[in-house]
Amino acid sequence: MKILVVGGGGREHAVIKSLKKNASVTKIYALPGNGGIADDAECYPVKATDVDGIVKFASEHPVDFAVVTPDDPLVLGCVNCLEAIGIPCFGPRAEAAIIEGSKVFSKNLMKKYGIPTAASESFSDAEAAIAYLKTQRYPVVIKADGLALGKGVIIAQNAAEAERAVREIMCDKIFGASGNKILVEEFLEGPEVSVLAFTDGKTIVPMVSSMDHKRAKDGDEGLNTGGMGTVAPNPYYTEKIARECMDTIFRPTVSAMNAEGRTFKGCLYFGLMLTRDGAKVIEYNCRFGDPETQVVLPLLESDLLTIMQAVRNGTLTQDMVRFKAGAACCVVLASDGYPQKYETGYEISTPETGKDEFIFVAGAKKEDGRLKTSGGRVLGATATGDTLKEAVRKAYALAERVGFENAYYRKDIGGRALACLREE
Ligand code: AMP
Ligand code: GLY
Repeated sequence: MKILVVGGGGREHAVIKSLKKNASVTKIYALPGNGGIADDAECYPVKATDVDGIVKFASEHPVDFAVVTPDDPLVLGCVNCLEAIGIPCFGPRAEAAIIEGSKVFSKNLMKKYGIPTAASESFSDAEAAIAYLKTQRYPVVIKADGLALGKGVIIAQNAAEAERAVREIMCDKIFGASGNKILVEEFLEGPEVSVLAFTDGKTIVPMVSSMDHKRAKDGDEGLNTGGMGTVAPNPYYTEKIARECMDTIFRPTVSAMNAEGRTFKGCLYFGLMLTRDGAKVIEYNCRFGDPETQVVLPLLESDLLTIMQAVRNGTLTQDMVRFKAGAACCVVLASDGYPQKYETGYEISTPETGKDEFIFVAGAKKEDGRLKTSGGRVLGATATGDTLKEAVRKAYALAERVGFENAYYRKDIGGRALACLREE
């Protein structure tokens, strides 16, 4: 089997390492991949947003199966185009990827089908939004409708901040056309949980739950980032809550998408807030989370390719997806200064890894055979263990063995999860 993986981050590195465990996989092409992925796949410089380039590449190479992981190509219809030239794909078609591509769409879907979420109003006119915001209690949450590189959510503490956010998004178009519409949403409180689930449009099988750490600094301070680390499982997400989510959120979402003629096949990501009134959806993603995937896939016992093919073919069953007991932790090493200004081009020395340790490379390139930093988030030092405490300890021990100048990482990944376990 020759497999094409679209994308080039830590998440794709984790997906590729899992796919490689299947003995029938003889080659993996990564578009564009990165300097670390190059050790596990053949990388070609085609951007993940260049759907025409991806389709051209796939038509010129012997690709048996494609895995499209990032949001942009999914929303742009990469799966539709690859399937049209006869390449079976893992990932939703554009009609279904809209669940992430338009927050107004997904909010209307949840309202129509009674799926618990934050109360909200949508606006396509800035002045109407600003007038409404003057009547609200604070904080409120303002969300650009479309994709915004994970930056389209603003928590405004007062009307002046809210007005500024609306003007930047809708008038100055800081997120381009993604800001043509916005949502103004009730601010929810409670622990956050990420649940990734495989679905073939009939059956939905949640993976082990996880917890992202989105802020740049320890103690959840500093700016929002693409994710500074993750742990799995998320101890706030009990079996009881999981059963409730299956009945109130997961199955209803799959049915709602079918009822809309937008059957979702792929990995559906539920960003949940566990509020006092129960679990509510704060976001859907149409794909694997990054860096959630880096802790979820190392715990997957079953064969990833078999699951992905079953998702594509509509033959997914519950017993196809099994996870190991134990836990995982991923500590993201970033270039100092991220998510604002940072320097790149520093040589990275990666240590030998044991069987429970993984280096998932996100922002690095190979130059003269040497791995050098090339992005904000550089790599994820990841480890599994019998307990969360052990996984966290091993991930930090691994992080300390990775060397590059100006490396920065949070020191408290997993801290909140461990505190939750101590309270139990
Ligand atoms: P997103 O970019 O959609 O992942 O959202 C970024 C973060 O904003 C989430 O992880 C939450 O912490 C926060 N957020 C989004 N919606 C809400 C909400 N309705 N109430 C409180 N926080 C929210
Ligand atoms: N970790 C959040 C996301 O992938 O969107």
